[in-house]
Amino acid sequence: MTSLPTTTETRPIHLEAPVLNVKLVKKAPAKAAVTAKLVAVEALASTGHDKRQLARLGFEAKPGQTVSLAGPDRTVDMLVGVGKRSELTADIVRNAGAAMARACATNKTAAVELGPVVGIGGSAAAQALAEGLVLGAYRFETYKSDLPDVLSTVSVVGTGDSGESEGVRRGNVIASAICFARDLVNEPGGSLTPTEFARRGAERAEAAGLSVRVLGPKEIAAERLGGLLSVNQGSVEEPRLLELTYAPDDAVASLALVGKGITFDSGGLSIKPADAMMTMKCDMGGGAAVIAAACALPDLAPPVKVTAYVPMTDNMTGGAAIRPGDIYEARNGIKVEVLNTDAEGRLILGDVLAMAVEQEPDAILDLATLTGACMVALGDKYAGILGNDAALLDRVRGAAATAGERVWQLPLADEYRTALDSNIADVKNIGGGRMGGAITAALFLEKFVGDSTPWVHIDLAGPAFNEGSAWEVAPQGGTGFGVATLVALVESMGATEADDDADSV
Ligand code: BES
Ligand code: MN
Ligand code: ZN
Repeated sequence: MTSLPTTTETRPIHLEAPVLNVKLVKKAPAKAAVTAKLVAVEALASTGHDKRQLARLGFEAKPGQTVSLAGPDRTVDMLVGVGKRSELTADIVRNAGAAMARACATNKTAAVELGPVVGIGGSAAAQALAEGLVLGAYRFETYKSDLPDVLSTVSVVGTGDSGESEGVRRGNVIASAICFARDLVNEPGGSLTPTEFARRGAERAEAAGLSVRVLGPKEIAAERLGGLLSVNQGSVEEPRLLELTYAPDDAVASLALVGKGITFDSGGLSIKPADAMMTMKCDMGGGAAVIAAACALPDLAPPVKVTAYVPMTDNMTGGAAIRPGDIYEARNGIKVEVLNTDAEGRLILGDVLAMAVEQEPDAILDLATLTGACMVALGDKYAGILGNDAALLDRVRGAAATAGERVWQLPLADEYRTALDSNIADVKNIGGGRMGGAITAALFLEKFVGDSTPWVHIDLAGPAFNEGSAWEVAPQGGTGFGVATLVALVESMGATEADDDADSV
């Protein structure tokens, strides 16, 4: 790891909150404060509780419904609905786990029986339940002075077979990676500076066994990352580029991940209105997802080489800030006229996409909270996906479905390409008007990828940050959206490529 001059003022370093520990046991522990059962609609009559009482309490075993009843010795019996048995999916089990964790948040210990959900496979059910429990128990309390007791251990009662225990292990790994991404997103822009973001990412990546490279201003200039330097001009903080590599000996495919790491987006001189700025600490949500997913890979051991690149800076209005109308030269030689400094994500991503292409990976995926327009199109629960390769788009859709994350494809429309034509430079950084903004942003990125590398762009401006209340596995605030899809994608590339190899032998 390159050592850097620490010119940035040192700030207090906060430890991430410990995540919930889910363990697999064969017998319900005697002293759990809450003992929960997953209940299908068909099993409403055989819960051990009076059916009419459950009806009076409004419990119908709908997915995610919970009810607490008096159990033995001042403990609580909790029922968690999973809907109809015939309609049971891993998503329902995951969401049930999250609902349960939220419902017993103020108890220290809980147990839940896996039994009734083995219909979807002991391993898959165990993984989904563990994921949901950890995700539902997540809290960001770094800045809360009075901390109540919170759920710290949940015992999943199963047969204890190896499929179940591997499922629980994988669930813990994936969900704690998601919680790491949430912590990064929730940290305010004033404390999660680019320097601190890179430090935290590097620390976790080193602990996980990845190779780590951190580039500071000099190295970034030497790499000719003109877009990252341009956006950084208005800031008192130094920029960083974090590069993480997971390179297993048995790699059968390679993937480059690129994540937007704007630690705070004021809009720059094209400044945002106050209301639009309130959540702009989340503008590194793509970068956080990429880092967190990469850090989970050694524990999951898929046979795919993955390199993650995250350019980091805030977008501020200092005296040296880039002006609307200024022009910079990007790494691949393209000259960009910056007409709106609030379209900054594409500037820092372009250079790094060009870097990734040079390494000739089998595929490139970028994750970015790129456009408000994507939220206008799809709302805050769906990410937009756009790309130059139908097979990779299908694979990303499949990975998102496995992960329980919602994505919807928008067209990389040829018709709008000329909207980026500049009068005096090679390209401008905004399309004509406000229409089709998610598409013109992706078309800008495409100029740095070209058409020889399969590439998909995920615009997670909506789902990266939940301004509403908790739902499914998502808490308020940073959601960690993208981590689970990335993990599923890497695993799917490893599985398919390995099959292809086997076929050709
Ligand atoms: N970071 C924003 C996009 C965003 C908006 C993320 C809301 C999360 C929630 C991005 O940098 C931005 O400001 N985009 C502009 C682009 C425009 C100036 C072409 C936008 O969407 O308004
Ligand atoms: Mn912006
Ligand atoms: Zn932004």
